[in-house]
Amino acid sequence: MEFGFSEKQLERQAYYKAFAEKEVAPLSLKMDEEETFDLGLVKKLHEAGVMNIPYGTEYGGQGSDYVDYALAVEEISRQDASTGITVSVHTSLACSCVDNFGTPEQKERFLRPMLEGGKTGCFGLTEPGAGSDAAGQQTVAVKDGDDYVINGSKIYTTNAEFADIFIVFVMTDKSLGTKGISAVVVEKGTPGLKVGKNIPRMGIRGASNCEVFYEDVRVPQANLLGKEGDGFKCAMKALDAGRIGVAAQALGIAQGALDLAIGYVKERQQFGKPIAAFQNTQFKLADLQTQIDAARLMVYRAASAKSNGEPYGPLAAKAKLFASRTAVDVTREAVQMFGGYGYSRKYGVERKYRDAKITEIYEGTSEIMKLVISGSMKLV
Ligand code: CAA
Repeated sequence: MEFGFSEKQLERQAYYKAFAEKEVAPLSLKMDEEETFDLGLVKKLHEAGVMNIPYGTEYGGQGSDYVDYALAVEEISRQDASTGITVSVHTSLACSCVDNFGTPEQKERFLRPMLEGGKTGCFGLTEPGAGSDAAGQQTVAVKDGDDYVINGSKIYTTNAEFADIFIVFVMTDKSLGTKGISAVVVEKGTPGLKVGKNIPRMGIRGASNCEVFYEDVRVPQANLLGKEGDGFKCAMKALDAGRIGVAAQALGIAQGALDLAIGYVKERQQFGKPIAAFQNTQFKLADLQTQIDAARLMVYRAASAKSNGEPYGPLAAKAKLFASRTAVDVTREAVQMFGGYGYSRKYGVERKYRDAKITEIYEGTSEIMKLVISGSMKLV
């Protein structure tokens, strides 16, 4: 068993860290306060090579793997969770649907632009009435000549405001349940595709997270990924990978909050010395760093299994379950260590607490993670 990163991985980690500190951190507060993702940053993410990491060079990817990708998401989320989810949804959800189910022609049309053409992807599965119950899709696609005509709406579609490629899950045969769901690509600018306003939220307020309306949206049948009825599997496979991204995001949020807390306790003087000198503070920090390290092992175990072509779905679910809980625990305790200053908006630690909570909710709630994990335990 190997627990350390290779020299190359450490180099990549240092690269992502430097990028995140220089380009992402300075925008974090502004994006949170304005509830808007910085479009210049989208461009920089593509240019810096953080939007195409785990894909083959054949279609413009870097030919790297999920460990490398998790390192990028962790370092970026350590500075800004909204940017972490932007990278993660594009990479693990949108790109992976085309990579897993697209024909070579579809990969040329949709994957290459997302990997090397600066185009951003989004993933429309969740609907107002279909969250955890992903099979309850109401959006429909009806065949008409050589086209599909799509009607319905999606909610909480990350990246929607600036996305170029929309992977949308539709019912092509409602009588078949999960086997009646199909995945279709809709390109930005297609008549009838309307992106609503960014939904006001508790955290990851910088991210774009919108309702998306499909009103008689006509796309060629050539935009169907896989066969009719492959959509549910396409979504579940993408979410398995997406959970590694979200787990890495949670890990980054936790480490980022601890970084702030460590900086603060060294500076903050009470009772005549820095509060870092009190054993109470030291023990608290030791506990939190231990929990983060445990999460880190789980995140990179799942990423490594995926990179090695081994089964990884339950490992990703465990990593997400534990890392998201860690993010909430660590950010809550970090706010506590700052005392009143933590509750104020001055130090940015309250933002991390707000951001952390979403990691227990999206790409499957903690309860869904337990469903996936217990399912793999063959209890019944
Ligand atoms: N990979 C491949 N296939 C899978 C799979 C996986 N991980 N999980 C299930 N399947 C297949 C099953 O094998 C089964 O196929 P067969 O019928 O051929 O055997 C089929 O899918 C149905 O499986 P289940 O009966 O297990 O499905 P279910 O209806 O019980 O649902 C669930 C399972 C785990 C609850 C699932 O619905 C789920 O993960 N829900 C959460 C959805 C979610 O995470 N939503 C958030 C999306 S994020 C988003 O939209 C916004 C954004 O931008 C972030």
